[in-house]
Order: sequence, then structure tokens, then C-alpha cells
Amino acid sequence: MTVLVTGGAGYIGSVTARAIEARGEHVIVLDNFSTGHRQIEGLLPGVDFIEGDYSDRDILQNIFSKKRAIDAVIHFAGMTLVGESMDRPSDYVRMNFVGTLTLLEEMAARNVHHFIFSSSAATFGVAEQVPIDEKHPQRPINPYGWSKKAVEDLLPYLKGVGGPAYIGLRYFNAAGAARDGLLGEVHRPETHLIPNILNAALTGSAFHIFGTDYPTDDGTCERDYIHIEDLAEAHVLALYALRRGHDSGFYNLGNGQRASILRVLETARCVTGLSISVIESIRRPGDPPILVASSDRIKHDLNWKPQREDLAVIIEDAWRFLREHPDGYR
Ligand SMILES: NC(=O)c1ccc[n+]([C@@H]2O[C@H](COP(=O)([O-])OP(=O)(O)OC[C@H]3O[C@@H](n4cnc5c(N)ncnc54)[C@H](O)[C@@H]3O)[C@@H](O)[C@H]2O)c1
Repeated sequence: MTVLVTGGAGYIGSVTARAIEARGEHVIVLDNFSTGHRQIEGLLPGVDFIEGDYSDRDILQNIFSKKRAIDAVIHFAGMTLVGESMDRPSDYVRMNFVGTLTLLEEMAARNVHHFIFSSSAATFGVAEQVPIDEKHPQRPINPYGWSKKAVEDLLPYLKGVGGPAYIGLRYFNAAGAARDGLLGEVHRPETHLIPNILNAALTGSAFHIFGTDYPTDDGTCERDYIHIEDLAEAHVLALYALRRGHDSGFYNLGNGQRASILRVLETARCVTGLSISVIESIRRPGDPPILVASSDRIKHDLNWKPQREDLAVIIEDAWRFLREHPDGYR
């Protein structure tokens, strides 16, 4: 069977495409390379790449009508920046919601039965209690989170009229790199904490901490960092669960361990052996103080077990990747 991976030239999609191909599946990546990397095609020789937009009906009809039947779509592609979504809300609705609706319609029309969706902790908005489990109210506070929740809300209705069975995975903070150093995180701009701290270490520039007066133990925001390979494995498990007829639903996905910015910084100093200078700035609007997942449900239902949950291991893997790719995939 063939699995279509949208966004497979990006960070999470590339590591997952490789994990699925390693299980003997035929993988096709559909990517428009807007934020992804053409070099990844050369790094994944067993994966077929198609350049195009996932909201383009002609491309989708062409892919779904090929002889090798596609039985699942793993949908990573989309617009991913919270701040940008505040400036361009219509684009986020158009691409992340309407575009995904097009993909789902074409899947239904071509009897593609299984859909795995990249959702986000951003669907929860400000945490009312931590850890955040699946019963926590979802009140997104930006258009990015709204667009992810809107797709979540739509999926059961579409399934009721012939749409695919689905599993939505709400990632907290994806981090780290493939342990062999081949694939890792390269975003432009980079908005994620660990690569930004490590970039500061590599270049000798200062790292900015936004807010040191949050109601947390050390005053800096606390997040939940999940290793990219553990995240990829959750998609493999979700794929096989759907094929076995597992119920559709949504899972929160994180380590369940909270790490403050200062703790990440200290761990990065230990891993790199470098001092890493810091500039303390005022809070950024929209940063919730604490976001930590309860992943008990996916552990129970899909038997998912994180293997690389130690923060130092996550940062070591990210650091190895960065030192081997100081200019990204070039
Ligand atoms: N990185 C995280 O910590 C995190 C956390 C929560 C949720 N997510 C979600 O996970 C998914 C993957 O995130 P990522 O960090 O790997 O992002 P990324 O930017 O590295 O990858 C996204 C990929 O999708 C492609 N793409 C974008 N728009 C497209 C389109 N219209 N058609 C075809 N391809 C398109 C890009 O070229 C890129 O290769 C996203 O949906 C994101 O919202 C990520």
C-alpha cells in the first residue's frame, strides 16, 4: 500500500516519511517546498517526491488515480507560524482549513480511507490546568490554532458522509533531530527554542529570553519537548491502528515533562560546553506560561512509548545535526 505524506520535505514530515518507508511502505511526498527543502529528496532515495500544492484538485486527482492505490494520507503541510497567522488570518483559514477540506474531499471521492492529521497544542489556547489532557477545553487564541481546531471539528462530520477515518495528533514542541544526524530542524525564520539556543551557541550571538516574570518556578515559560523520532513513531502507530480499524480520534502528544527556558538553556550549555550569552527581554504577547501534555491516552490506546525523552538527549541530537548542517540543507 502507498502512503501520501504532504509536507514531507519539512521537519516532522521528512523524519516520519523515512520512518514509514523503513517499515516497507511505499511513500509519496507531496510538497510545494515553500518552507521545505529540496535537498531532502536526495536524502530519502526510497521515497517518491511530487512538487505541488495539497490544495490543488488537479494534482490530487492525478495522484489518487494512479495505479498504486493510496490508502492513507499523513497531512503535515500547511502554514505553521503563530505570529504570521495574527498578521494573515485569511491565509491561514484558506490554506490550513479550506485547503485541507479540498484534500479531504478528494480523498473521499477516490476512496482513500485513512487520514492522519498534524494538529497542535495551539488548539488549547491558554492552559487551565496542566498537564493538558484530551478533555481540556480547546479555545485557540490565534488563527493558526483556530485553523487546526476547525479541521479537527470537521473530521467527524466528513467521516459521517463517507470521509476518511482519522487520527489527529496534537503535538506540543517537536524537537531534536534524527539520531544519525541526517534529518533535523531547519526553519526560516526559526521560531523554535532549541534550534535558536543552539544557533546562538554556534555563532556566538546572544539568545533572547522573552519574559522572566511568568508565574513558573524560575519565571520563564515552561514547555514540553518531544523528540522528533518519538513523534514520527506515533504516526507509524496511528497508521497501523487505522488500518486495523481503530476508532477515529485525537491524541495529545508530548513528553509530559516540563522544561523551562532556563532549564533548556542550562542543558544546552552542558551539551555544547559553551557559555551561550543571553539577553533578557519583556514578554511576547500570546505566549502562555506553561504548556505540558498528558500523553497517557496515546500510550494506552496505541502503545506509544517515547524512547528519547531525556532533554539532554534531545539537545544532543539537535546539536549534532546543527554542527553537521550549520547552513541548513546546503
Ligand atoms: N514543529 C512543531 O513543533 C509543531 C508543533 C505543533 C504542530 N506542528 C504542525 O506539524 C506540521 C509540520 O510542521 P513542521 O515543523 O515540520 O513544518 P515545516 O515548515 O518544516 O514543514 C511543512 C512542510 O509543508 C510544506 N508545505 C507548506 N504548505 C504547503 C502546501 N500548500 N502544499 C504542499 N506543501 C506545503 C512545506 O514546504 C514544508 O516542507 C505542521 O502542520 C505544523 O502546524 C508542528
